[in-house]
Amino acid sequence: MIELSVNVDHVATVREARKGLEPDPVAAAIEAEVAGASGITVHLREDRRHIQDRDLRVLREMVKTKLNMEMAATEEMISIAIAIRPDLVTLVPEKRAELTTEGGLNIVGQEEALQKAISTLQEAGIVVSLFIDPDLSQVQASARVRANCVEIHTGRYAEAFRSLQEELEMDRIINAASLAAKLGMRVHGGHGLNYQNIGKLVDKGKEIQEVSIGHSIVARSLFVGMAEAVREMLRLLSR
Ligand code: PXP
Repeated sequence: MIELSVNVDHVATVREARKGLEPDPVAAAIEAEVAGASGITVHLREDRRHIQDRDLRVLREMVKTKLNMEMAATEEMISIAIAIRPDLVTLVPEKRAELTTEGGLNIVGQEEALQKAISTLQEAGIVVSLFIDPDLSQVQASARVRANCVEIHTGRYAEAFRSLQEELEMDRIINAASLAAKLGMRVHGGHGLNYQNIGKLVDKGKEIQEVSIGHSIVARSLFVGMAEAVREMLRLLSR
């Protein structure tokens, strides 16, 4: 069974549309956990467009499984992570103008700075994952900077789903995942995964131990509720 971490950012996106109190991403996280999710993911962005600092504090109190904080490797975010102590930090690239995280983190070329950030977080007892494209040189660089895990960007596979490019993109994921596992890192996957494209990843991505899924589960939850949306995804994740 691949573990499922449910990203509740977009529950906060709806709340922030009115700058009010509802819907509450913390309530969504509790529903997701009760339905069987193994973790909760939130991205505290520099511009605070969805998740707010208070959400993270309350989630730290409430989440009983594993809290994954996605963040840029900035001084501000590192000090917030050390104060909050999520179970896992996933370092992601961040651009203000992007709609969502667009590409993986470029580890090659900023190894020294990243290694410093990673060891600071690890010394605080936080497991560190790097969100990278399915590229072998990025996997090797992730091992060199001593990341505990890599999260392989599945967005290009998701976009290529049911097109001629699909197999190529899947092969990239499989190759990156097996190298990461061989180098001793835990392998996660995420971005653009949904109820249609997850099946092939489950069948072929044997090294992937955890997926982080947000948009499709939050979208489905509008029609069936969060708990049922999570249960439907969990059924697809069971091998
Ligand atoms: N993993 C990472 C690193 C992300 O930045 C995101 C999007 O916030 C996700 C997973 C989830 O992607 P989606 O919302 O497309 O499921």
